[in-house]
Amino acid sequence: MKSEPELTPQEISMLQGSHGKGVQKAMEIVVGLARIYNAKRLIPVTSAQIAGVSYDNLGEAGLHFLSRLAADGAVSVIPATLNPAGMDLEDWQNLGIPEDFARKQKEVILAYQRLGISITCSCTPYLIGHTPLLGEHIAWSESSAVCYANSVLGARTNREGGPSALASAITGRTGEYGFHLDENRKPDLRVVIEASLPSGDLRTSYFGLLGKIIGEKIITRGVKALPWIEGIDNASLEELKSFSASIATYGGLALFHIAGITPEANAWDIPAKSISIRQNEIEQSLRELEKGIAGKFDFFSLGCPHLSLREIETIANLVKGKKIHKDFWLTTARQTKLISDQMGYTEIIEASGIKFAADTCCVVAPIKNRFNYMATDSAKACYYGRSKNNMEVSLLPIETILQIATSPQSH
Ligand code: F3S
Repeated sequence: MKSEPELTPQEISMLQGSHGKGVQKAMEIVVGLARIYNAKRLIPVTSAQIAGVSYDNLGEAGLHFLSRLAADGAVSVIPATLNPAGMDLEDWQNLGIPEDFARKQKEVILAYQRLGISITCSCTPYLIGHTPLLGEHIAWSESSAVCYANSVLGARTNREGGPSALASAITGRTGEYGFHLDENRKPDLRVVIEASLPSGDLRTSYFGLLGKIIGEKIITRGVKALPWIEGIDNASLEELKSFSASIATYGGLALFHIAGITPEANAWDIPAKSISIRQNEIEQSLRELEKGIAGKFDFFSLGCPHLSLREIETIANLVKGKKIHKDFWLTTARQTKLISDQMGYTEIIEASGIKFAADTCCVVAPIKNRFNYMATDSAKACYYGRSKNNMEVSLLPIETILQIATSPQSH
């Protein structure tokens, strides 16, 4: 039986429209979800991250919803940032984005600006100063960022939809259910990695592959499980962002614990139920994601989730003095690109022929049917490259991708 959440006098007045129609609509969304999930009450949130920004995904209905909400006076009352848009907001022409799409995308961004949302347009807000702390209650909606925030930062968020994260930004509230509660953060499946991991600290493709294998194993068990993972001695920020994106994509997960690495792993007993990941499974999964399309690549993309400055620096070092003649996008937050500009990395990278695609990514940009064969270090980009953009894909390490793209045979 569904129970009614207990609301404070202020929440009731928001719901009754005393704070304006926009706030009322947002409160209806928050309370509606709290009812569905049997929340006893609403709790304050300190941060929101809002997906549903690309006009390619939103369409006219989404744009209308946002414009209406802004016209009704709704505005964010907490720090709130946006997910990637469908294009680089400054350099869209250079990336071949059609003019009519660009016009609509700008209308979406304008609506979000009016709603008081920072137009950062990044799926890695935690790299650009929007970084919640351990135990902080937040409302984020980008699945990779949700998984990273819950697992690596120890913040607390459900996997919100774009509208519900926006509603939380406007009301400063969410229902107290799901991952906001201690009991739902308890792991119930031990995952033992029995394979030996390669050395290095930008093993993003490898961690993406691990996330895919674990996510798929959990999905095929037919019941949702919260994994407690052991057998990973160390992992860099970049590897954890790749892992978070992948396990969220292939397993629908919003939280994992890694023994010795993530902050809540030690808070729980080791689960009794256990599965293993063996070397041969990793090799088989890698073969499936390579599919022998080397030599055919017509598109290369790095930056899913958005690149860190360290990844950009590595790329600059690897392509210095080399030339690339195929379409090659680096996707990152504009703020990260600005530092890259100041450090001189952008100049080196662009001299090679690689293009920056700030504010956007190879999944949310309107590139369907433009390219056929993509190489990427992101297991998540592989999934959506196939399912959304009809491409054949190959998962490869960053260094290998750059070697292939700069080799004379690829010209
Ligand atoms: Fe980010 Fe786009 Fe990948 S939003 S996680 S770069 S699909």
